[in-house]
Amino acid sequence: MHCPLFIQLSDPHLLAARQGCLQEVNTYDTLRAVLKDAVKRFPLPDAYLLTGDLSQDGTAQSYENLKQLINKLTVQPSFVIAGNHDDIDNMQRHLISGNIRFEPFVDLDKWRVIFLNTQVAGEEYGCLSQKEMDRFKGNISEKAQHHLICIHHPPVLLDGFIDRSRLQNSEEFLSAVGNIEGQKVVIFGHAHQEYFERRDSILLLGAPSTCVQFKPHTAECVKDTLSPGYRVLTLYDKGDIETEVIRL
Ligand SMILES: [Fe+2]
Repeated sequence: MHCPLFIQLSDPHLLAARQGCLQEVNTYDTLRAVLKDAVKRFPLPDAYLLTGDLSQDGTAQSYENLKQLINKLTVQPSFVIAGNHDDIDNMQRHLISGNIRFEPFVDLDKWRVIFLNTQVAGEEYGCLSQKEMDRFKGNISEKAQHHLICIHHPPVLLDGFIDRSRLQNSEEFLSAVGNIEGQKVVIFGHAHQEYFERRDSILLLGAPSTCVQFKPHTAECVKDTLSPGYRVLTLYDKGDIETEVIRL
């Protein structure tokens, strides 16, 4: 029996200059190292899920850099969503092509994977617009037995500085997720830290960044000494999942 295997890559923050750094971390080099590690351990995942802040500067060149890296190192599809730092026009023009896809959802076996846009122009925080919320509710499948939802901004409080820029309308979002039949898993980025919570019937998972890490539970942003990493998810037919975070 086939069970979908996904690799979540989050917050790569690539820049136009490949030697560019975010908090003294070269984001191009760390993404390349993370991708190489993921491909070595999991040569043929069903897909890579890139959960936003793909670019730090929103430039066309940063997306070209990402496209080249993905196309050079992977053969499986990548599905992307935008984060607060992304320029969606540049992302669509310079990243999306071939195996790199920007879709509302994709179905794999018993699972539907839904991709959401929480970007609010010019703001760090996220929000699902009414249109996006309606689209989300409309894309909940009655045929799929389980749902995996990909969103950039954390829909929960993490007890740290990142809470100031979390998803604003998280209550309405989580209530809609809670109403879905079957298993529901929400994966997010933005916080650059690992997170795991089972809240009622919803599994909430945060991923590390592929570049700089942020310490949890701090009032201001503090760089963590943890290595870059990624999350692996195996989704089973009956709705149970296996997941782990792997760091370099
Ligand atoms: Fe972000």
